[in-house]
Amino acid sequence: MNITVLGTGYVGIVSAAVLADFGHNIWGLDIDPKRVENLKKGKSPIYEPGLEELLQKGLENQKLQFTTDYGQALEKTDIIFICVGTPQAESGEVELKYVYSAIEQIAKNLQNPSLIVLKSTVPPGIHLKLKEIMDQNTKVSYEFASTPEFLREGTAVSDTFNPDRIIIGTESEKAQNTLLEIHKGLPGKRLCTDIISAQMIKYASNSFLACKISFANAIARICDLLGANVLDVMQGIGMDNRIGEKFLSPGLGFGGSCFPKDIKGLYFLSKQAGYDFKLLDEVSEINDSQVAYYLTKTEKIIGNFADKNITILGLAFKPDTDDMRESRTIPLVNELLEKGAKITAYDPIATETAKVVFGDKIIYAKDKFEAIRDCDILILATDWNEFKNMDLVKIKQLMKGNIFVDGRNLYNPKDLKQFGFVYVGIGRI
Ligand code: UDX
Repeated sequence: MNITVLGTGYVGIVSAAVLADFGHNIWGLDIDPKRVENLKKGKSPIYEPGLEELLQKGLENQKLQFTTDYGQALEKTDIIFICVGTPQAESGEVELKYVYSAIEQIAKNLQNPSLIVLKSTVPPGIHLKLKEIMDQNTKVSYEFASTPEFLREGTAVSDTFNPDRIIIGTESEKAQNTLLEIHKGLPGKRLCTDIISAQMIKYASNSFLACKISFANAIARICDLLGANVLDVMQGIGMDNRIGEKFLSPGLGFGGSCFPKDIKGLYFLSKQAGYDFKLLDEVSEINDSQVAYYLTKTEKIIGNFADKNITILGLAFKPDTDDMRESRTIPLVNELLEKGAKITAYDPIATETAKVVFGDKIIYAKDKFEAIRDCDILILATDWNEFKNMDLVKIKQLMKGNIFVDGRNLYNPKDLKQFGFVYVGIGRI
């Protein structure tokens, strides 16, 4: 099929590359000329394992092309996947300006009857407004559908090839069959529903996962008060199939381009619709206070952070990505700087994107040992593999101080004590 993927961010590039791999003819369309030039050379603007190889394969097979020109991308298209960003506006509302402008351009340039599939996370029901824009600007026939995307950064390519489920929201059997056909080669369960429900599934999924993490963080704080081991508690509750063991790891909290934005977005949408979804407000509240919780705990041991040399291991919001969006290291660094600390940080991949956020306010080390040398306090902020089994003897020798703040609960407090560290974790005994 001839497919246009509009927007080459995380979801767009990965979807375009995977669909090309399935033999479809893909135009990747983006308004950013520099991004498009790089994509034409097979260069991905984001770090994502396996993505550049897939892009290059698509380009070589001539299944994948990129352009900034709507006319060119829509000339022969049958299906348009909308993958533009839907960030959060100041008000908490979902910012839809990129979706609106994409739809206006589609309406003005559409030549073939097309199925317009919303992959971007949008307020459920927004297609009704988008239809008005289409109807004012085109006579070509079209239909809307929705297939929300559930890929995770860092595993985006393998998630797209191996989805748990594919949600197909349509208004006709024809559109449903087209989307079932496109996804034919992929594993995973299928759920066919209406468009509004499909979009609600995306918000509800992300909000539920964020609830799980904040629940684990709240339980961890209670474990601190009562002297329980939160890892055992989470393992114990996760053994119940109804609960499941995933997304129950306590730590500095969640970041990224989806969870923080989507729970605020759903909270706002619910309020607008007439329901005060207070639970989601509390989920944000717990997450937003995790960094301060760790810092207060550390201050109780060291007095204060003024002039302390701090090393932060990991800056990205999670491992295997260079994405800094909503990374918990942003409030972490800002609060530490405000308290007068000096910060040296190391991240295996995200140094360049972190420089855009922190500039020269912190020092960037080339490796973890350089970062750790002579520091008073070590803070492990992102659970990259290379931070999981570190040589604790070497680290202790390199450090001036002995405070080990385990922001991802990766180490056993008893082990660290044996090596001469003072351990600061959450819910650990
Ligand atoms: C998430 C969803 O998982 C994905 O389905 C959706 O499409 C986009 O949002 P992503 O943001 O890439 O994906 O990352 P994810 O692996 O879900 O982690 C999000 C954040 O939660 C990270 O900051 C991670 O460190 C944190 N997290 C995750 C925890 O703090 N504890 C956990 O138990 C799990």
